[in-house]
Order: sequence, then structure tokens, then C-alpha cells
Amino acid sequence: MDNSPPILLAQDLKKSYGPVAAIKGINFSLQGAGVFAILGQNGAGKTSLIKCALGLEKVSSGNLQVIGHPPGSLQAKRQVGVILQDSDLPDLLTVREQITLFASYYPKPFSVQQTIDMCELQTFADKRYKKLSGGQKRRAQFALAIVGNPQLIFLDEPTTGLDIEARRNMWAIIRQFAEQGKTIVLTTHYLEEAENLADRIMIMNSGVIVANASPNDIKKQTTGSVIRCETQISVDVLQTISGVSSVVNAGRFSEIRSADVNQSLKEMLNLDPQLSDLTVAQPKLEDVFSALSQGDQA
Ligand SMILES: Nc1ncnc2c1ncn2[C@@H]1O[C@H](COP(=O)(O)OP(=O)(O)OP(=O)(O)O)[C@@H](O)[C@H]1O
Ligand SMILES: [Mg+2]
Repeated sequence: MDNSPPILLAQDLKKSYGPVAAIKGINFSLQGAGVFAILGQNGAGKTSLIKCALGLEKVSSGNLQVIGHPPGSLQAKRQVGVILQDSDLPDLLTVREQITLFASYYPKPFSVQQTIDMCELQTFADKRYKKLSGGQKRRAQFALAIVGNPQLIFLDEPTTGLDIEARRNMWAIIRQFAEQGKTIVLTTHYLEEAENLADRIMIMNSGVIVANASPNDIKKQTTGSVIRCETQISVDVLQTISGVSSVVNAGRFSEIRSADVNQSLKEMLNLDPQLSDLTVAQPKLEDVFSALSQGDQA
């Protein structure tokens, strides 16, 4: 049995700024490696949660543990890397100097050159931070989040403002880290990013958690995917197939809405091996996200 503590544990966690309740008593336990995406509209409480986990903001009540340690403790800090939404760095140091400095905070960092190469910073590694473009600054911040080779990485909107190539490179590094056994906690407003990267998605709305599941399970909360095909199976029979919620005849095609596409397709192919022109339209994360992240949860 694995007795290691959760990577991140929140128990009835609350955070208020004066009269503003940013986090209203949330519970979750994040175990093991992978990418954990936190989604939610502006003001949902995502950054507040990350700042509390880093010890930059004091929790108002409840319990929050980072790899079994109190937020902000030395034991936690040595295992954590971070990009904050509003990160900024000393203007006069070069990127290489900043990376060298950050590497010194960690027990087993990557080498500075390895980090520069991995993050593709070669063309501006020796420029002062203040001379960098917005996207280059973000990429430099990402290098600082990973140079320590930490167990847990918080990335608060890491790819905002990046060009497509830089975004794809960051995604590749994030996935690589997850596959090497690290945990990445990421916030984003790009649902495509969450779909591509996340093993688990948590949706917050007005300081509460409204969903916490795998991307596929979250998407299943829509009314299902639409299977479209040409088949001899009658509408009456199609309606009895597992997972099917509705069937529509569209010319020579049947359109079958199913909550369990794999099972429905197996049964349909058994009944009609000649079934042809098959397409499946996946439900979009966006559909579920808009449904779950609207309305005031106060
Ligand atoms: N330092 C602060 N002082 C007062 N209120 C704050 C502070 N930081 C955040 N808040 C409030 O707490 C709530 C949650 O903010 P938070 O920054 O956690 O949201 P978020 O989900 O990260 O939003 P975004 O997507 O815009 O980054 C908001 O109502 C915000 O106005
Ligand atoms: Mg935020």
C-alpha cells in the first residue's frame, strides 16, 4: 500500500479577503503524478487557492497540506516550482542569471544549460529580463518553475500570451514532467489546453468546486456524443441499445445520441456488420464548462 501523503490536500478550506469570500470551504485530495487543471471564470478562486498552497496568502480556516507539509514551509518549498499569474522578476538580471539563482534554491536541480535548452530560451538567455517581450518573459518564468526539478509545479495561466510554437513546447515539457512522475497543477482559460494536457480537471465557480473528474468523465456530464451512420437497424431497436438516449432519422443517416459510445457501437456493429459512413461527434469540454461555471454559488 502507498502510504505517501497526498500531493495536495484541502479540507474545508476557506479563504476570505476582508468581506470577500474567495474560497468557500472546498475539499479535495490530489494523489500521484499527472496534470491537474483548475478551470473557472474570472474570480472563481483559482489563484487564491494556488497562493494559499504556496503560503503567499494565509488560509482563513480549514486545512491545506502540500506533500504532507504546511504551505510555505521549507520542506514544501524545496519540492515546489511555480509560475504565478502576475509573476515578475528582477529587471536587471539576465535569464541565465535568474535560472542560476533559482537552481540554487533546490536540492537536485537540472543544470542551467539543460533548462535553457529544454525551454528553448537560447536566443534570449543572455538578455536582461526587462528587455524581453511578454511571451519571452513567460517562457523565462516557466524555466524558473522547472529548473529545480520539483515534485509539484503550480502553473497559473502559464501559456497566456505565448505564440503557438512556444505554447506547444510548453505543453510537451508539461506532459514529459507528468510522465516522469511529477504533479502539475495548472490553471487556464483555454479549454483546448485542459483537454490536451489534463489527467484530471477541477472546475471552480465562485469559490466552490463544481466538478472534479477526468476530462472524459466531465464530458460525459453532457447529454452524450452523437453517433452518425447509415444502418439497417430500425429506430425502435436502436433505442434499446445500451447508452442510447435518443435516435433521429436524418435522411439516409441515423443520428444516435449515446452516453456510452463504445458500448453502443459494439452492440450496433453486432446487429449490423454492414453499418457504414460512421462518424462520432465528441461532446466538448466547453459545453460542460459553460453549464457548470455559470450562476452564483453563494
Ligand atoms: N488580494 C486580494 N484582495 C482582495 N480580494 C481579492 C484579492 N485577491 C483576489 N481577491 C478576490 O477573490 C476572488 C477570487 O480571486 P482569484 O484571483 O482567486 O480568482 P481567479 O479564479 O484566479 O480568477 P482569474 O481567472 O481572473 O485569474 C475575486 O473575487 C477577487 O476579487
Ligand atoms: Mg487567477
